[in-house]
Amino acid sequence: MEVVLKDVSFYYKSGNVKGEEVLKGINLEFQENKCYLLTGPCGSGKTTLALLLKGLLDPTSGKIFVKDDSIPLSSFQRSIGISFQFPEEQFFKETVEEEVAFGPTMLGLKDIGKKVKNSLDSVGLPYKKFSSSFPLDLSFGEQRRLAIASIIACEPSWYILDEPTAGLDIEGRDKVVELIKNLTKSKKTIIIITQELGLFIDLCDEIIFLEEGTVKLKANIKAFLEDESLDGLEISLPYHNRVLRILKKRGWDIKVSITNPQEAADVIADYEL
Ligand SMILES: Nc1ncnc2c1ncn2[C@@H]1O[C@H](COP(=O)(O)OP(=O)(O)OP(=O)(O)O)[C@@H](O)[C@H]1O
Ligand SMILES: [Mg+2]
Repeated sequence: MEVVLKDVSFYYKSGNVKGEEVLKGINLEFQENKCYLLTGPCGSGKTTLALLLKGLLDPTSGKIFVKDDSIPLSSFQRSIGISFQFPEEQFFKETVEEEVAFGPTMLGLKDIGKKVKNSLDSVGLPYKKFSSSFPLDLSFGEQRRLAIASIIACEPSWYILDEPTAGLDIEGRDKVVELIKNLTKSKKTIIIITQELGLFIDLCDEIIFLEEGTVKLKANIKAFLEDESLDGLEISLPYHNRVLRILKKRGWDIKVSITNPQEAADVIADYEL
């Protein structure tokens, strides 16, 4: 299955940028079982694009559709699990348990209790400790993980994770990255919105770069890392990829598209000068 955005433009009818298009003629395709890294500067339209994909906003012009038409767009959009950039905005229940149970209950799924427990455990919020906590009493990092647990409990096959590691400490970031890594292994389609390329580049198949509401780049990750014309784009490459590029410029016969930092370190250490 594939979801397609064709000439999609959007403007907010209220707010500071009234009437100004924040997405301009977007053409994109997302295929199932792939992991996408959606990046771009602040205000480039990443969250707006996520809200359109989820069907929480409608394009001002253009069209979003499911390519093989096997299911209607609205059913597909309902089935997408989305965690918002500001997780506190999505909580509305009194306890962690109720918060996580809400989605699967609305979807009419079975074994809700088990799903709640498993999804909380899988994000590192042990059920026993957290089930009766008030969601907004959790730390920021715990709230992010709760937001992800709430969607895991719904067992979606498509996920949109808007800035899942923003504002987390190193331990919190590592936990979220590990969690997303496990999701990629279980053949889910995942769109990760992030500025932190280094954390996710090893997990993703494709990168999409938005700038001022337009798609500046959509590429396979390896092709993206090898592309020497990229220096002009406002993309901060992962540290190890920058080092590999510098060494290549200095004449090393070296692959610059390595996504795993440890592998890059090994290649550099073993290089025969
Ligand atoms: N509810 C809203 N009403 C009016 N304008 C909005 C609204 N939400 C976002 N905008 C504007 O739309 C543009 C795109 O915002 P969006 O949040 O999609 O960008 P973003 O790439 O997710 O940014 P960030 O990296 O800061 O999260 C910005 O100029 C923003 O000010
Ligand atoms: Mg955003």
